[in-house]
Amino acid sequence: MLWALASEQWRTLLADSGMTNYDTILGRMVVDQRLCTEEEVRKCIEEKKTRSPENPSTLEQLLLEKNFVTTTQVGRLKNLIRESKDASTQIPGYKILGKLGSGAMAVVYKAKQVSLDRTVAVKVLPKKFVQKSDYVERFYKEGRLAARMNHNNIVQAIDVGEVGGLYYFVMEYVEGKTLYDDLSQGKIFDENEAIDLILQLASALGHAHSLGLIHRDVKPKNIMINNDNVVKLADMGLARETSDMKAARHEQGKAFGTPYYIAPEQIRGLVDIDGRADIYALGATLFHMVTGRVPYEASSPSEVMKKHLKEPLTPPDHINTALTAGISEVIEGMMAKDRDNRYRNMDELVTDLRAVREGRPPLLARQKFNVEALEQLEEGMALETMVGEERMYSEEVVGKYRMFIIILGALSAMLGLAVLLLLMLK
Ligand SMILES: Nc1ncnc2c1ncn2[C@@H]1O[C@H](COP(=O)(O)OP(=O)(O)OP(=O)(O)O)[C@@H](O)[C@H]1O
Ligand SMILES: [Mg+2]
Repeated sequence: MLWALASEQWRTLLADSGMTNYDTILGRMVVDQRLCTEEEVRKCIEEKKTRSPENPSTLEQLLLEKNFVTTTQVGRLKNLIRESKDASTQIPGYKILGKLGSGAMAVVYKAKQVSLDRTVAVKVLPKKFVQKSDYVERFYKEGRLAARMNHNNIVQAIDVGEVGGLYYFVMEYVEGKTLYDDLSQGKIFDENEAIDLILQLASALGHAHSLGLIHRDVKPKNIMINNDNVVKLADMGLARETSDMKAARHEQGKAFGTPYYIAPEQIRGLVDIDGRADIYALGATLFHMVTGRVPYEASSPSEVMKKHLKEPLTPPDHINTALTAGISEVIEGMMAKDRDNRYRNMDELVTDLRAVREGRPPLLARQKFNVEALEQLEEGMALETMVGEERMYSEEVVGKYRMFIIILGALSAMLGLAVLLLLMLK
């Protein structure tokens, strides 16, 4: 969690540094593009504060002065910033009202859809993510699929398009917060409250899966909770790179990317990712909600990913002892490293979650995930019976053997007597 925390502080530092909007964006971009480090930008911000009001300096000037960036690099970034600003204010049919937030891949704006006079959210992707033609193809294909979906717990996709070389995704505007906001403030969810939220997400994902769409990026930042406490799953249908390993690697280099919830098969770069990857990510999210911590913590994204692949999961009820064994079993079943050992689909998961919510045991988890234990148990019982049988058998053998000795003894005694009689008769 350490590096994510540092990034949050870093974001706050930039926002609170009293710099112009342009300098703030530039500060983020030079680090995002790996032209310099957070530390170097931090140095410039400190230096900026020491400059007299008569001789003010911009972050851009200081970065250049210290040779942290070159004029060509700044020129290129300036163009990028201008282009993205121009394009976002020029999306036909939409009037941009302000910025809602930004993530590792995009900026999200609040906008007015002029024709219907309604508020929407518009996500604009920078050019660097949409250079590859297969990405653009998937962006449209999945965007169309997402627009076909209609579910109360999925942020409704409205439109996709391209303007001035930038790609945008128009969606329902959600007034509320993200689950990440709650978790980053240290909230630990009560078991039942968590199950109620996860049930809404399981229903949303079940609907998406039935239409052939896998989310691939279920995480607290993509889970919104509106002011009526209704959960809305965001970024459904937003195409990621074809190989999740590529995306994961990309995220490694990003201050904001978090592989805390990613399924092992996505880390391994499997191409046939199915709904079970979403089950794992949803399980990791539920784990975080009820324990207050992510399933695997480490000082770098690659270490976190290694743990997803190798480290056994700490049962959630060992961390938060107020949890029932039932919810712990469900989470362990959702987060099995081998997807063949997970719930097969959202329906199975919903059955068990409802059971736990009603105070009953999660039967599927017990049946499915305890198969191994049952097998061992059965093996143990078989062994015991065998041992018992063996003992019975050997006693029998001993008995028979004893009889045999008696008969043999009796026979030889009779033989001895017969010999004696014969000798006497002679
Ligand atoms: N439909 C929406 N309605 C209202 N606000 C939204 C909507 N979609 C996104 N946002 C806001 O915009 C922010 C940025 O979203 P974006 O998807 O770009 O990044 P993210 O999911 O937060 O992080 P990451 O880039 O790591 O995936 C969100 O955190 C959220 O606050
Ligand atoms: Mg998002």
